[in-house]
Amino acid sequence: MAAVLKLDQFSLLDDSSCDARIIAAKAILGKRLAILGHHYQRDEVFKHADYSGDSLKLSQQAANSDAEFIVFCGVHFMAEVADILTFGERKVILPDLAAGCSMADMANLVKVRKCWEEISQVIDPDQTVTPVTYINSAADLKAFCGNHGGIVCTSSNAKAVLQWSFARREKVLFFPDQHLGRNTGYRMGIPLDQMVTWDFMKPRGGLTEDQIRNAKIILWKGFCSVHQMFQPAHIDNFRKANPKGKVISHPENAMEVCEKSDFVGSTEYILRTVRASQPGDHWLVGTELNLVNRLADEMKPKGVQVQFMSPTVCMCSTMFRTDPQHLAWVLDNLVAGQIVNQIRVPQNIADPARKALDLMLEVVD
Ligand code: 13P
Ligand code: SF4
Repeated sequence: MAAVLKLDQFSLLDDSSCDARIIAAKAILGKRLAILGHHYQRDEVFKHADYSGDSLKLSQQAANSDAEFIVFCGVHFMAEVADILTFGERKVILPDLAAGCSMADMANLVKVRKCWEEISQVIDPDQTVTPVTYINSAADLKAFCGNHGGIVCTSSNAKAVLQWSFARREKVLFFPDQHLGRNTGYRMGIPLDQMVTWDFMKPRGGLTEDQIRNAKIILWKGFCSVHQMFQPAHIDNFRKANPKGKVISHPENAMEVCEKSDFVGSTEYILRTVRASQPGDHWLVGTELNLVNRLADEMKPKGVQVQFMSPTVCMCSTMFRTDPQHLAWVLDNLVAGQIVNQIRVPQNIADPARKALDLMLEVVD
């Protein structure tokens, strides 16, 4: 077996040399390989994906894949999900191990366990609270949900998952994204005063006992640093200049942004909705820049204008870490019979995490 090829050999290659290597490696590996690409990936990487999608679609794709190698052009939690759903039988590879998610990092097992314990001093959470984790979270938090009668959700199925949860227990602890939880709860008719925010830096989340008793949803105080850049004023300015324009936002945006938007949904929903528009339509889109730029280029020849919501450039810096150099490096290693950057979730975490993920996939079907 050949030696592992070092990343240094690839770091200085230009993009077109990487392209040639990626195309050649894909041809050699054929059906043994599936490259999954999240919509936030940059063009230079996205164009090599065999399958693209939002977090839900990519999870389903991974679960149904029979490829020997799944190269995940996305972020760490997505590769973990692919490994869990394929029972470790596929080799799941993340081209750059530093491609994490700052929102996912805002919750961890120690803090969530502490929260559960503090809640249990007021009510019995195992009887009254369903823990729901957004898929943007580490595998051990999904396992926590699996172990406590809980479930995972994505931005496409959060409403169905909350309905499932409330059919079982009266309250939900939702982590790590407060905005997805609040936006979904609000649209389901839950009053704002029954959705309290758990500040994980404060004792008992900074809440009174009554606030915990009266809450329908306890929202972890996490957020996405990319989506927090979008402001209601951006929408007001757009509407002033384009009274007939339409606004579409991702539910990771603050409620003030979502409530001013005409449409709210996952990245896949955003693409589907804008693609269905008519010539002359003008859109303001509140989600990551790479997706918006690609959509703008696609829709321009159809006479549809697509505009990024923020006046300043903001993209997901961790999604951006996956570049053609890393992709060429992992693929050339596969051709040489070497697996680098494999993501493996230990079985004691993967099994309960799969329970919570399987429930999510059932709720969607
Ligand atoms: P979706 O693609 O599932 O809408 O999620 C967006 C996101 O932030 C991925 O991290
Ligand atoms: Fe995480 Fe936000 Fe990047 Fe999505 S866009 S991967 S939530 S930091």
